[in-house]
Amino acid sequence: MAEPSTRPAVVDDAFVTAAHGILAGLVADGAALGWVEPPDVDEVAELLGHVAAAVADGDGALRAAYDGGRLVGLGYWLRYARPTHRPHADLEKLAVAADVHGRGVGRALTAALIEDARRAGIEVLTLDARGDNDGALHLYRSLGFQVYGRLPRFVAVGNRRYDKVLLMLDLRAAPR
Ligand SMILES: CC(C)(COP(=O)(O)OP(=O)(O)OC[C@H]1O[C@@H](n2cnc3c(N)ncnc32)[C@H](O)[C@@H]1OP(=O)(O)O)[C@@H](O)C(=O)NCCC(=O)NCCS
Repeated sequence: MAEPSTRPAVVDDAFVTAAHGILAGLVADGAALGWVEPPDVDEVAELLGHVAAAVADGDGALRAAYDGGRLVGLGYWLRYARPTHRPHADLEKLAVAADVHGRGVGRALTAALIEDARRAGIEVLTLDARGDNDGALHLYRSLGFQVYGRLPRFVAVGNRRYDKVLLMLDLRAAPR
């Protein structure tokens, strides 16, 4: 694959279908994306519709990565709804198709989403990751995120429990 190209996503039926394929496939393989079972396409459509509405209101950013014409990754952040948290946003899902892992797509998506947040005037970008998600934690830290907390054995997947690691990027302090 050439340099991964990311762009703001347009949420139409084709995008929902392709995004569902990536998300459901990753969750089926045990990825830590907030689902225990792979989501069905209606659930992904509802989620992406919600994100697209927030983007239209200036309260979010949704990025897609393409390899040629094929969707290979997506990620988004949403501004916090709580009135006292409105200057801040949470990066909620970052997902790259398994067959292109390790080729820079996740890094390109996350870097673009950080730039989107900066441009939107977001002050603090937060996210959380499962404690065993070494690849994602390495990626976020390398882009400047700092761990500010950890909820021990908080993430429940059946009988298993994993730490929830809380990270933040303070865009008021980060160098441009
Ligand atoms: C996490 C994820 C988005 C990374 O995407 P990716 O395209 O494979 O990542 P990149 O190729 O851009 O690599 C980014 C960095 O992460 C590192 N990395 C990726 N997977 C890794 C792993 N399993 N272990 C250690 N490091 C890993 C890479 O080495 C790279 O670091 P480097 O540039 O210093 O070498 C992808 O693995 C994924 O979709 N995972 C399943 C869903 C998920 O866990 N999302 C995050 C939820 S918080």
